[in-house]
Amino acid sequence: MTFPWREAPEAEFAVIGHPVNHTKSPRMHSAAYYALGLPYRYVAIDVPVGEVDVALEHLRSVGYRGVNVTVPHKEDALAWSVDVEPLAARVRAANTIRLADRACINTDAPGFLDTLEGFDLGPKRALLLGAGGSARALAVALSGTGYELTLYNRTFDKAIQLAKELDLSEESVLRSADPQGASLILNTTSASLNGAQLPILWERAEPGALAYDLMYAKEPTPFLACASEHGLQTMDGLKMLVAQGARSFEWWLGTAAPREAMLEAIR
Ligand code: ATR
Repeated sequence: MTFPWREAPEAEFAVIGHPVNHTKSPRMHSAAYYALGLPYRYVAIDVPVGEVDVALEHLRSVGYRGVNVTVPHKEDALAWSVDVEPLAARVRAANTIRLADRACINTDAPGFLDTLEGFDLGPKRALLLGAGGSARALAVALSGTGYELTLYNRTFDKAIQLAKELDLSEESVLRSADPQGASLILNTTSASLNGAQLPILWERAEPGALAYDLMYAKEPTPFLACASEHGLQTMDGLKMLVAQGARSFEWWLGTAAPREAMLEAIR
C-alpha cells in the first residue's frame, strides 16, 4: 500500500520515491521491528518530482523520525539536508534521512561493499556497466577500497563524463563491454528491468569472476543467466537491499539490525 505524502498515516519511518509501489522496504523494515519487538511502523509514500522539500517538511511535522529515499529523489534529499555525511556528498545522493536534525547519509555504497565480504575475488579489478547514479555510488565505494575500474555504458559520452568525475583516465572507459581481467562484473544498468541483454563479451570473462546485478527478480536476470551459462559466480541485488536497509535501521535506532529476518521477509 502506498500513500500520497499529504495523506501520510501515523508512522515513524517511511520510504519515499516515485513510483514507489514496488518497494520491498516496508516489508523488510516491518519484519525487523517484529523480530526485535519494536513498536514502529514503516510505510511507502509517493512523492512527485519537485515536492521532496515540502514532503520531508510535512513528514517531520507529523512526527516521522526517518526516511529512506529511492529513485528519483536521492539528489533532492541531499539538497534538503543540512548535515550531510561526506560520503553522501561525494556520491551526490542521500538514501537515508533523519528528519529531526535534517541529517543524511548514504548507505547504498557501504551496503554494497558489505555484500562482497566472504567472496574471494582475487585481484581488485571491476568492470562497471552503466553510468547513472547507481554506477557513481558503487564506483566511489569500489575505488575507496582500492579497486581498479573500467567503465562501459551504452551511451559512451556518459561513461566519459562519469570517468572525469571520478578522476579516472579516459582509457578506463571501454568501447565494448570487455570483462577480461575483471574479478567483478557489476551491472548497474536498468537493462534487466526491460528484459534487455547487454552486449558483454562473456567469452573473455575470467573464470571465477563474480557477475553482480543490482536488479533482482524471481528468475535470474538476463545478465545473470548469461553469466551462469559461462560458468561465473552470480549475485543479484537482494542482499544489497538488505545491507543498505540494515545500515539505515542501525543509524536511526542505534541497535543491530536483524539481517536474516529482513532477508527472509523479502526473499
Ligand atoms: P540509476 O540512477 O539507477 O543508475 P539512471 O541514471 O537512469 O539510473 O541510469 C540508468 C543506466 O542504465 C544508464 O547507464 C543507461 O544507459 P544510457 O546512459 O545509455 O541511457 C543504462 N541502461 C538502461 N537501459 C539500458 C539498456 N536496455 N541497455 C543498456 N543500458 C541501459
